[in-house]
Amino acid sequence: MQTMDCIRDRRSIMEYKPDPIPENIIEEILGAAGQAPSSGNVQDWEFVVVKNPETKAKIAKAAWEQDFIATAPVLVVVCTDIDRVSATYGNRGETLYSVQNTSAAIQNLMLAAWDKEIGSCWIGAFNEATIKGILVLPTNIRPLAIITLGYPAKINKKPGRRNPKEFIHMERWE
Ligand SMILES: Cc1cc2nc3c(=O)[nH]c(=O)nc-3n(C[C@H](O)[C@H](O)[C@H](O)COP(=O)(O)O)c2cc1C
Repeated sequence: MQTMDCIRDRRSIMEYKPDPIPENIIEEILGAAGQAPSSGNVQDWEFVVVKNPETKAKIAKAAWEQDFIATAPVLVVVCTDIDRVSATYGNRGETLYSVQNTSAAIQNLMLAAWDKEIGSCWIGAFNEATIKGILVLPTNIRPLAIITLGYPAKINKKPGRRNPKEFIHMERWE
């Protein structure tokens, strides 16, 4: 798939076929996530791959009962290693770069998945402490997003986007 087509056509998928995603494809997608840029190449991302139905159900509950999450064959809980990112960049690393680095990785992950005709949805609404408990994450590992993965059962119409003319400012804010 052409890069620009992949960027334009990707959409959030909330309904999945039950078909499993082959292990090598999951590895390839997460490998693409790991190709993302990061502050000073710190690569603070950590990915917890969850397929167990009971764990997925607990995660969906911790995401304010967004039940569709548990129907995805695979969940990837994207975390940052706060120790790793703050070692070089202190507070800015912990509060800003951790989010930026993992977001870049997530975008790669979602586009790589779409390239393989696998749908995904970025879940940001969840109780962090509960997710930490479910996955037994160490104190320095902060979960920042849950990404669902699965072959689409239904592809919704792409929600509209702002006209680039609205958000591009040439030279200065006018
Ligand atoms: C930071 C972030 C948090 C999000 N959290 C949720 C969420 O908790 N639940 C959900 O269903 N979608 C969530 N989404 C997906 C957005 O709703 C979706 O990307 C947006 O509506 C645009 O649709 P599209 O991805 O199909 O282009 C989130 C997306 C981002 C980037």
